[in-house]
Amino acid sequence: MTVAAIVPAAGRGDRLGPGAPKAMRPLGGTPMLVHAVRGMLHARLVDLVVVAAPPGGEAEVASVLASHDVGKEVRVVAGGATRQESVRRALESLPPEVDIVLVHDAARPLTPSEVADAVVNRVRAGADAVVPGLPVTDTIKRVDPGGVVTETLLRAELVAVQTPQGFTRELLAKAHEAAVVDGFEASDDAGLAERVGAAVTVVPGSAEAFKVTRPADLVFAEALLRERRGR
Ligand code: CTP
Ligand code: MG
Repeated sequence: MTVAAIVPAAGRGDRLGPGAPKAMRPLGGTPMLVHAVRGMLHARLVDLVVVAAPPGGEAEVASVLASHDVGKEVRVVAGGATRQESVRRALESLPPEVDIVLVHDAARPLTPSEVADAVVNRVRAGADAVVPGLPVTDTIKRVDPGGVVTETLLRAELVAVQTPQGFTRELLAKAHEAAVVDGFEASDDAGLAERVGAAVTVVPGSAEAFKVTRPADLVFAEALLRERRGR
């Protein structure tokens, strides 16, 4: 079985504030994307990594990866205007022998490689779609456009899902094709798989797989990295 990890890295990082594209911003002096790619390359069961770069920025991204010694094993393709389009473009570029695909946000730079291996193992064991998830700690409410709460969801039934998410290539391709046909946008790939009727299995995620979204997340990521380097 050949496993590819797609790393969407074409976002701007608007919520992080002005600056370089989020994936290129440094964490412990090294671009977040480099951390994320290394995490996937260190996974025992991942054979190949494909990065979706900001459109037009492919050469720059490839050279940043090469300068950190992760260039050889990694392909870079042009991403798109949305995360979903970035993933689709990378998916379309995969070589024919790939039969399992992980999708992993560049914005989750400190995700332990073990999470990727656990997800791949579950797909190998027969699941079509697998996501790492953690119990939510905040109470989640549905609100109307006026900001009035319409429903409080039962927290015990909720999980916050992370990446890498893993799929059989066949399912992920079918899910993305269906989304193009219906003009459907989801915030994760499992959402597209659910839409075509697939069962999505949750495996334990990791607190270290958090997404760097807002400035405070960078402070936490820097601290975690310092602690890891001192371990
Ligand atoms: N992503 C992508 N292509 C896009 C938009 C997002 O490949 N057109 C990627 C991001 O680079 C990131 C992942 O999808 O690794 C998760 O998205 P998010 O955390 O929302 O990152 P950004 O879109 O960069 O951040 P923001 O929404 O704050 O602009
Ligand atoms: Mg975004």
